Amino acid sequence: MALIEEINDLYTIAVVCNQWGDTGKGKFVDLFASVWADIIARGTGGANAGHTMKVLEESLIMHLIPSGILHDRDGKVNVLGNGMALDPRIILEELAELDKRGVSYDNLMIARNGKLVLPQHLVMDRCKESELGETKIGTTGRGIGPVYTDHAQRIGLEFNDMLNKDVFSRNLKKNLADKVKLLRFMDPDKVKEVMHHEHLLNGRFYDPKNFFDVDAIVETYTGYGKELRHMITDTDKFIQQSLGKKRILFEGAQGLLLGNDYGSVPFVTSSDPTIRGLAKGVGLNDDDVDLVLGIVKAYMTRVGEGPFPTEYGGAESARWCDKHNRFNERDEYNNPSINSGDEFERGVAIRYKGDEFGATTNRSRRTGRLDLPLLRHAMTINRENIIISKFDVLDECENIEICDHYVYTGPEYNLGNKVLKDGERIDVANMKTEILSSCRPVYEVLEGWMTDTTCIRDRADLPLNARKTLDYIVKRTGAEIRIVGVGPERSQNIFM
Ligand code: IMP
Repeated sequence: MALIEEINDLYTIAVVCNQWGDTGKGKFVDLFASVWADIIARGTGGANAGHTMKVLEESLIMHLIPSGILHDRDGKVNVLGNGMALDPRIILEELAELDKRGVSYDNLMIARNGKLVLPQHLVMDRCKESELGETKIGTTGRGIGPVYTDHAQRIGLEFNDMLNKDVFSRNLKKNLADKVKLLRFMDPDKVKEVMHHEHLLNGRFYDPKNFFDVDAIVETYTGYGKELRHMITDTDKFIQQSLGKKRILFEGAQGLLLGNDYGSVPFVTSSDPTIRGLAKGVGLNDDDVDLVLGIVKAYMTRVGEGPFPTEYGGAESARWCDKHNRFNERDEYNNPSINSGDEFERGVAIRYKGDEFGATTNRSRRTGRLDLPLLRHAMTINRENIIISKFDVLDECENIEICDHYVYTGPEYNLGNKVLKDGERIDVANMKTEILSSCRPVYEVLEGWMTDTTCIRDRADLPLNARKTLDYIVKRTGAEIRIVGVGPERSQNIFM
């Protein structure tokens, strides 16, 4: 059944990403939010994610508020769920931006048991990354790792704690104790510099003796609590009670390959961006979700460090992207050709054509070819329905390279009672960093379609080579392609 008819009978749809994030979730969330959903809920990640929304022809970048907020005026409810890392400073900033543009958020709900991001989380994230030097992870610096660490360590604060000053103050002191001890081993000037960043209100929380000014944090955060109080509620119960009655859209964040359960640890974020993490983060089980749509970009990107077998230009690209961003790259590299004989150049051309720069950090994203071993791995968790996004970015490619499988090229590696040996074929990626970084991709090279697909809305109108490319992906993975995205606009889709 075509997706557009099938969704009429569904109550729950999740849009997640099957790659390293940045696959264009916002566009599809916006599509389902506008034509289908009553409730739009996020349940994972935090301000490390970012999506660009268009309000009155102006671009607006949001990190925490779901893309569905633009439909608040239609009475749709937006939810920030319990699994999220919630920074109230950023929520208030984003709400102020919505105020400026006259966008209402009367129906926004925030989980009382969401994980509360506090100044110490940003400080620990940034100080730790700078200590790690060459071995850094390349985090977004939004405090994500430390806040989820505190949750697992049983010392985290929850969003509702801001509403009870005594509880907040007591829990804050307990929470700070181990961090202060750790910071004493670090360069005090570095700590001071980090604490004077604008994200930490230019030093408002800095105490030269104990690093953190407890009173300043208590005053500021209980103040935030007062401003947000009317939105804080039991969102788990709300979602559970809405099951089967309202149409609920679950908006994923990051991507499966960036998760700390199924991704390439340690170069990952600290939550589980799969359907399992998302369902838990809104108070449900994953089998409560009727349809899971896993987005797969027609090529791949990655931000930050970590193995990327199909990267155009390999280590050179990773080094280049570490030093470049949206603002300085074009000064040094102008007019790259998407069909160049030099793969590094092809990667730069794809980055420009696909506008592959971080929404949160503006960093240049590393680019590579579509990788089927990674997709097969992702589908073991996120199921078989996929959306292919940004297909049109490849419109001018003479050849389409797709990684069909890997050949392992590393030293012997014990895997349970088996031994992985040099030269062995791998069809489903193993995410262990030592293995993934020793995998040589074997490419299938298909002929490109060399036609503008951005105006096509029907599969039958796609050029033959484009259809062959889609058929190849289906044949080699067992995926069911439900939508092909052929441009940034909500209408630029082919429903399959
Ligand atoms: P963190 O989530 O800030 O701790 O960053 C950990 C890793 O995940 C880094 O490599 C980040 O670049 C990456 N990461 C986190 N959020 C996103 C995202 O929304 N898109 C792409 N990469 C991300």
